[in-house]
Amino acid sequence: MDVKEVTEKHHLNVYKRFNLILKEGKGVKLFDDRGREYIDFLSGIGVNALGYNHEIVISVLREGIGKLLHVSNLFYTEELAHLLKKLSEVSGLPKIFFTNSGTESNELAIKMVRRYGSSKGKFEIIALKNSFHGRTMGSLSITGREKYHRGFKPLLNGVKFVPLNDRNAFLDAFTSETAGVFLETIQGEGGMRLIDRDYISFVREFTKEKDVLLVIDEVQTGMGRTGKFLSFMHFDIKPDIVTMAKALGGGLPMGAVLTREKVAEVMDYGSHGCTFGGNPLIAKISLSVLEFISRKEFLSEVNIKGEYLKMKLTEKLKGIPFVKGIGGMGLMVGIYIDEFKPREIAEKILDRGVIVGTSGEDTIRLLPPLIINKGEIDKGVEVISGVLKELS
Ligand SMILES: Cc1ncc(COP(=O)(O)O)c(C=O)c1O
Repeated sequence: MDVKEVTEKHHLNVYKRFNLILKEGKGVKLFDDRGREYIDFLSGIGVNALGYNHEIVISVLREGIGKLLHVSNLFYTEELAHLLKKLSEVSGLPKIFFTNSGTESNELAIKMVRRYGSSKGKFEIIALKNSFHGRTMGSLSITGREKYHRGFKPLLNGVKFVPLNDRNAFLDAFTSETAGVFLETIQGEGGMRLIDRDYISFVREFTKEKDVLLVIDEVQTGMGRTGKFLSFMHFDIKPDIVTMAKALGGGLPMGAVLTREKVAEVMDYGSHGCTFGGNPLIAKISLSVLEFISRKEFLSEVNIKGEYLKMKLTEKLKGIPFVKGIGGMGLMVGIYIDEFKPREIAEKILDRGVIVGTSGEDTIRLLPPLIINKGEIDKGVEVISGVLKELS
């Protein structure tokens, strides 16, 4: 079968795929249909935090064969209870709901914001320009990129977009009807731009004072990606709601919404539900991945490797005129460029055996598996810098 031809013919034409058929993975390496090896600096866009075929994931999958694959949420399972206990411990947020994806987590967060505000007549949401929260109608409505809205309007009403790190714009957008604020600490899809410490602290204090909910979307930044279990932990703040997905399920679909008691109280029987959410097999995998990633030593390694990656990039990309900077936290790193389209560069890097992503209109996105080692970072940086130097 011609895999590419059949896929292009029958799949909805919404993805611009790279010219690569992937077959297998091991550690941070992927192999194509011709056995060619690639170093992965993208992790399935932030999903494969432990790389490919990690023994932790594989052993739980094996154990799961012959046991319960799915159980309705009308019943209890041990797997779910263990995961709930661990996730609430490491996040500091006691109440949790499981979903299948990031967009679904944000849908529920929007519902919680609306419900919490409803008794006080509040319903508006402030979100950031260039944010990304998903593709379903609610999360799309709070996604601050016009190109994703085209042809899908009317979206949710009462959503206002403000530029990142602009206090005055935030205060201008805030009204007595504001019910919630959605933030990402790094805009993963919107150009890998970082939130300022002063700004996030200010928004937290202001919303707390007004009893308005602060939601942090940790779909991409969570699960140790930035060197803390959740990225808000870098800023000494505590949000009211956190949304997660991507790496949470260890490569299988799982998302979560985490919150405080006072917010959880507004969600009563029947106010939300999800057939697959908290599936016992994925819950068990998620628990093992979580236990592995949330260890202090592991997270400190992520920080060290992230700093090393940025240091190596800075050293090797010095003097290239179209490279405007390098930013990010932990192993979530962006290379900001002008002149060239990031996709064009990503394709050239792929030709040399390294998989990287793009973000926004001007950024190369690096999200290597968190288990990457320094030697593999060196190899990846060598290829990336080689391509960028040739273009300059
Ligand atoms: C910050 C953020 N929120 C939400 C989403 C949507 O997640 P999903 O594709 O699982 O629906 C993404 C996906 O890239 C994301 O990066």
